[in-house]
Parts: sequence; C-alpha cells; structure tokens
Amino acid sequence: MYMMFFGSSVLLLIGMAVLWSVFLFRGRRWLTLLNIFFLLAWLGLALVATWSIGWEFIRQIFGMLAPMVVSPFILLVTVRDRSVWGQLVKRYAVFVSWFAVYMITFQIPAFPDGWTYFECFGLPILVFILLYAWDKWFGRRFYRHWIVIGSVLMILGFIFISLLWNAKAMQDEGHAMQGNWGGGKVTSVKPSVDVTTLTGPDATAVTKQYDFTAAKKNMSVPDGSEKELWLFNGQLTGPAIRVTQGDVVEVTLTNKNIEDGITIHWHGYDVPNAEDGVPDISQKVVAVGESYTYRFTADTAGTFWYHSHNQSSEQVGHGLFGSFIVEPKKQVKEELEIVGFVAPKYVDSSGALLPANGKVPKNIKPGTNVRIRLGNAHNKPQKLILNGTTFQIAAIDGNLIHKPTDLKETYLQIPAGGRMDITFTMPNHAVCLFDAKDATGGWVFQSTGENTKASTEIPDNVFKPEKYGEKKATTLDASDGFDRLFTMVFDSKLAFFDGMVHHLWTINGELYPNTPMLMVNEGDLVKTTFVNRSYSHHPMHLHGHKMLVLTRNGAATTGSPWWTDTLNVKPGETYEVAFKADNPGIWMDHCHNLDHATNGMMMHLQYNNVYTPFSGHTHE
Ligand code: C2O
Ligand code: CU
Repeated sequence: MYMMFFGSSVLLLIGMAVLWSVFLFRGRRWLTLLNIFFLLAWLGLALVATWSIGWEFIRQIFGMLAPMVVSPFILLVTVRDRSVWGQLVKRYAVFVSWFAVYMITFQIPAFPDGWTYFECFGLPILVFILLYAWDKWFGRRFYRHWIVIGSVLMILGFIFISLLWNAKAMQDEGHAMQGNWGGGKVTSVKPSVDVTTLTGPDATAVTKQYDFTAAKKNMSVPDGSEKELWLFNGQLTGPAIRVTQGDVVEVTLTNKNIEDGITIHWHGYDVPNAEDGVPDISQKVVAVGESYTYRFTADTAGTFWYHSHNQSSEQVGHGLFGSFIVEPKKQVKEELEIVGFVAPKYVDSSGALLPANGKVPKNIKPGTNVRIRLGNAHNKPQKLILNGTTFQIAAIDGNLIHKPTDLKETYLQIPAGGRMDITFTMPNHAVCLFDAKDATGGWVFQSTGENTKASTEIPDNVFKPEKYGEKKATTLDASDGFDRLFTMVFDSKLAFFDGMVHHLWTINGELYPNTPMLMVNEGDLVKTTFVNRSYSHHPMHLHGHKMLVLTRNGAATTGSPWWTDTLNVKPGETYEVAFKADNPGIWMDHCHNLDHATNGMMMHLQYNNVYTPFSGHTHE
C-alpha cells in the first residue's frame, strides 16, 4: 500500500505539473477541470492510505506537499483580477507543482529538518512574492519566454544546490552521534572499558586454527566473464569454516594486496567486541603486509558467515566472504549437507548461487535427509524457490525454528546478509533450487532412481517467518517492560557527488555519522521499532546481539520465536524487535544493503561505559 501510495502520488503530481504548464500557455477550462480531478484523486488516495497504513507513513509526503499543491487552486478561485493576477497565479502554479514533484522524488526525508520545512512552506510564499514584484515592476517589459526560461533555470539551480548540500552532509565529521537513551535512565558513567580488552579466550585454548590471506585474483565468474576478484585464500566463496559447538576458533588474517586494508566480521556471531572486526571501533584495518588474529569460542551452533568489514560494499562485493558453520555437539540425524551463498554484486550482479564448500551433488539417494544452508552475500533480498518436494525451514540466521511444519509451493525471501536452513527428505524424483530471476539456473538434484524434470514454476506464496512453527517461551522476558525504546525511521534523499546523483539513506532523517547512537546499560532490555518509509528494502543488521521479532506491521508474531540478526524491512513495513543488552561494547547497527550503509544508513549501539581508542568514524 505504501509503495502504491508513493508511486501514484508521484504520477498524480507529475500529471498536475504538466497540466499547469500547458495551462500557462492555453488557459482552457478543461485543463483546470482535469487538474482539479487529479487533485481530488490525490486527496482521496491519501485518505485511503491513512486509513489502511496509517498517517505516520504519509505524513511527510502528504502533510508537507498538500498545502503547496493546493495553494494555486485556492488562489485561482479567490483572486478576481484576471489580467496580471491570472498570469501570476499560473506561473506560481507551474513553479510549485514542479517543485512538489522534485520534493517527492528526491528530497523529503522521514524526519524533515528546518530546511525541508522552508522548502515546502516558505519557498512557495517567497516565490509568490518575487513573481508579484516581477510583474509589478517588469511585467510589461519582459517577454513571457524569458520568464519561463528564467524560472526553469532557477529551479534547476535550486535542485543542483540542494543535491550538493545533501552530499556535504555525508562528509560531516566531528559533531557526530547524539546519544539517544531511548527514554530510559541516562547513566553518566564515565567511559571506562576499552573495547580492546573485550577479547576472546587466549591462544592456549584454541582448538581450530585457520590462516586466511586476502589477495586479488583473476578468475571466471558464474556469468562466464573473467574478473578481478578479491578473495580469502584464492577461493570463491572463501575457505569454509566448520567447527563444532564448544571449539575455540582462531583465524589469522593476512592482507597481501588489498590496498585500503581489510578486517573480518563474524556476521551473526555474538563474539566479544574486540573480535568483531569493525575498523575504527574494535581495531585498525589490517593494512597490506600486516596480520591480525581473531579468537573466540564457538558457543552457538548454526549457519553464519564472515566477511571483510572495511569498505564492505566494495570488499564483500568483490568476494571477501565465506561460510562459517558451527555444528551442534550432538547431531540430531544423519544429513547430507549443502552450503550455498548468493553471490555478491561484483561477482555476479544478478546473484547466482555459489556452492560454499566443494561441489553440489547431482544425484541424491531417495530417503536421504538433506540440509541446505543458504546465505545471501548480495545486497538485495533474494527470492529463492525449492521445487519438487515439501520442505521445512529448520533455522533462520542460525536460530532453530521450534517445530517447523512442511512447506510447499512457497518461495523464500532471504534478506541480504541473512541465512536460512532448508531441510527435506529426498524424494524419488528431481528437486531444484533456483532464483526467481533465473529459473533456468540454480541447482538440480536428481534422484539416483530415475531422471526427471523438476518444475521451474514460481509459486505465489512467500514464506512468513512470523507465522511459522510453534510458539515457545524464550529467554527474553519482557513481562516487566523494556528499559529502552528506540524508533528508527528509514528514508532517503538524493545527493550529487563523484559526478553522479546518488541515493543517500537516512535513519531518523540523518546520515551517518549524525545518525542516532543508541545508548544502553549492560542488562537492559531494549525494544526497537523499525519503520521503513523509503522505497527500498533495508535488511537491518545488529552486531553482537540477536533480535527477537515481536511484531510485524502491528501484528504480534504467532509462530516459533523468530530470532534474527538481519531483518529485512520492506518499504511500508513496521517491525518491533527486542534484544537483551548482554554483550558490552560498541556495536554497529546498519543496513546490510552495503551500498546503503556506505551512503549513510549506519548507526551504533553503545554501552555507556565502553569506549574505543581508535578514532575516526569511517568504518563500514
Ligand atoms: Cu555482515 Cu556489519 O555486517
Ligand atoms: Cu538499506
């Protein structure tokens, strides 16, 4: 509904602007009538939208733009003098209607600042006064096309300047991060714990050791082309880490030739803060020729992954990632395991499925229990389909689903950065797993019995984690309420830099480093509300903690407890999640569409008594 409201608003506003422009030259009555019809349609649409998704979502677009768009109509009926005034109102109408188009497509963030208010409310008045003065003093001495050209140039200039202005906000240094205490007690404990002391066990405890060297390598990618990739140990996907619950893992990372330096982040794994791999918070980047050692206990079983966390969009995009799997202490049943990742953007722009360790089996014996551990290293959510068998989702982001039920004719949407474990029993015919964008690609598993074809039909139903499995009590007890409540509203604006117009992605109207910093005390129970008022998906990833999803679009979750570390928030969606602040540190909380993170959509969760000795805030 939100997207529909947004899309139709853009179309209706463009329609009005076009009508006003034509009206300027040939003031026909039907043009006015048609325009009034468009306006009424927009008002009606806003009404329906308010009723169905709530005023919160349309407040910005409608509340800010309606007065501007309605004003020329009001002037037209109230202003009586048809000669000078008539022309004046028409020109004013052309300006505000196009300006509204610009505002809705480029500019209006969820939390408008003073400047946006000026643009929507002050600027139309100013323009009216200027036009009036122009008419009074120059009205009869200037030709109309001069006026038109002049206005067009003025508007273009204005747009250009505000695009530059937006870009400048991204380069902000210093006056960063207002601490946001989420309504809870402000604790003025002096920062006293240095993140670098929050480490994993020492070297004597290590039971699984790995050496990773990051380097560039030319190789052919799934689409057949030859590319320069950036890889750990020359492998795509990176070397698989597979350990057993309880192991102490050590990874020594060496940077051979990745110029800007690298780190490793253990995505979804709640390691101690110093092992988290975030440049300028938990460590300095590992420069060319340098090494760095990570060490932590693998205390939770599940499907995870690791990736470089420096200039993540570029580095993960070029292949610096791999699977990280922790097997449970006691295996429940004999299983054939297949691990796969959706390729990141430079490796394969459409996101082909990459086998993460070894090959994907072609033939599977009927009756075999199969587990496919899937991850998504791409920036976009992936629509994946398993055809040919009923299946279950055994885990989301490494967290077991309580009593999963059989699914069929259901597609999965795996968030960027997210993981899902699919389990099924191999039937005596073919099963296939593919991406909706490419039904001819993906993986086909043949039964050893006979060769058949699996359907490549794309089902209509999406898997709904909020309703899947059975309810069960969790470790997170909110019966006494929450210590802190945060609301994060996602939106976007446009900016001009590097010779191009880019989207900037805002949280509560701000770009990193001015985004809110969530302040907590150790032990706090925290509730965060995500509201996505932009027109793109935002897979929100919190480091160091697991989030329990409480509600989706206002409705409480009814299935198995849904724990996640990367929650995809679609345009127009609202989620409430809860987590326990039980892992002291300074943690990133960001969108895992890594391009969005680069362009502003990052923030921090900070424990009040922790500080970092590393300065700067360029970390991604
Ligand atoms: Cu997978 Cu902060 O990232
Ligand atoms: Cu995003």
